[in-house]
Amino acid sequence: MKALSFLSLILLLTGCGKKGAGTDPEPPLPPALGSLREAAFPFGAAVNVNLMRSTTAYQQVVTREYRSVTAENAMKFRSLHPDAATYTWSDADYLVQYARQNNSRVHGHTLIWHNSLPSWVTNFQGDSAAWENLMKTHIQTVVGHFRGQVASWDVVNEAVAEDGTLRPSPWRQHLGPDYVARAFQYARQADPDAKLFYNDYGHEYGPTKRTAILNLVNGLKSRGIPIDGIGLQLHTNINRSDANLAAAITTAAQTGLLVHISELDVAVNPDNQAGLTLTSALQTAQKAKYKLIVQTYNALPATQRFGITTWNVTDADTWVRGYCSCPDWPLPFNDQYQKKPAYDGIVEGLQ
Ligand code: XIL
Repeated sequence: MKALSFLSLILLLTGCGKKGAGTDPEPPLPPALGSLREAAFPFGAAVNVNLMRSTTAYQQVVTREYRSVTAENAMKFRSLHPDAATYTWSDADYLVQYARQNNSRVHGHTLIWHNSLPSWVTNFQGDSAAWENLMKTHIQTVVGHFRGQVASWDVVNEAVAEDGTLRPSPWRQHLGPDYVARAFQYARQADPDAKLFYNDYGHEYGPTKRTAILNLVNGLKSRGIPIDGIGLQLHTNINRSDANLAAAITTAAQTGLLVHISELDVAVNPDNQAGLTLTSALQTAQKAKYKLIVQTYNALPATQRFGITTWNVTDADTWVRGYCSCPDWPLPFNDQYQKKPAYDGIVEGLQ
């Protein structure tokens, strides 16, 4: 009796009994996160190095919230290796130094991709041996430069086309389909400790592209090619079904590899409407998608959760506005660097 009345007193004081007699009290929520740095796995963002250098408010949000950083552009081929004999390290080195000073991990993006190639590569005249040397030299110089400082690399990005075939990129054209495997081998030689990822988009579109990517990755793994992880870009939007988003994440984990949600953003204007404004209904829909994605990811085995990275930090900095030439607000922070409902969705998904 005594114990019972003590329990009633607690329920009364905490308000947990407010649903009335016969209803089980809800378990208390864990304390709200002070920052995404407290997530059980590394939460990160892609960053614009120019903004890091120039805008204090931007750098403050990055430092407060994220314990992993990806260069949005500064480690791409065109940025690092603009001429055959020229490497420009300054922006990427700045980011690596920032990360060291602020206790953050650096994810390298990206070594071999069909985009962001300098004209000396797209115009390169050479036989397949010369192309092989070009690819190998680029990978080994870049990975070697950052050895021990960049924890992981997107070794190959977007090799699979929408119909599931291997994209006819310059790499595929000059080196044959197995360039993907050799890129991983060259990267492993240059830094045996870096985690090596195959990164792509569209896992959530449906089974065609998803299956092709999983087959590629599983094939590499079964041949003993040194691949450690699969990156899901997840440039998504509020109309994408929960079922397809969840399938993208859970099927990636079935490979047994590390899973990185590597470029997350959730667009609210998928039809590119010129006059759209951000309503609270759109914010609520966006929050729900962020929550679903983070919750599904958080349920994966802890050993496979490499991390979640959003593609930039605030709506003011997103690539989506430029890409769609339309208004959009795809990120967890608004143009004034304030948290949006989307941020709360992430926090709820982490609990
Ligand atoms: C984008 C950047 O965000 C833009 O600033 C740049 O102009 C083009 O590239 N998939 C990727 C990223 O792997 O590298 C792309 O980043 C977005 C799509």
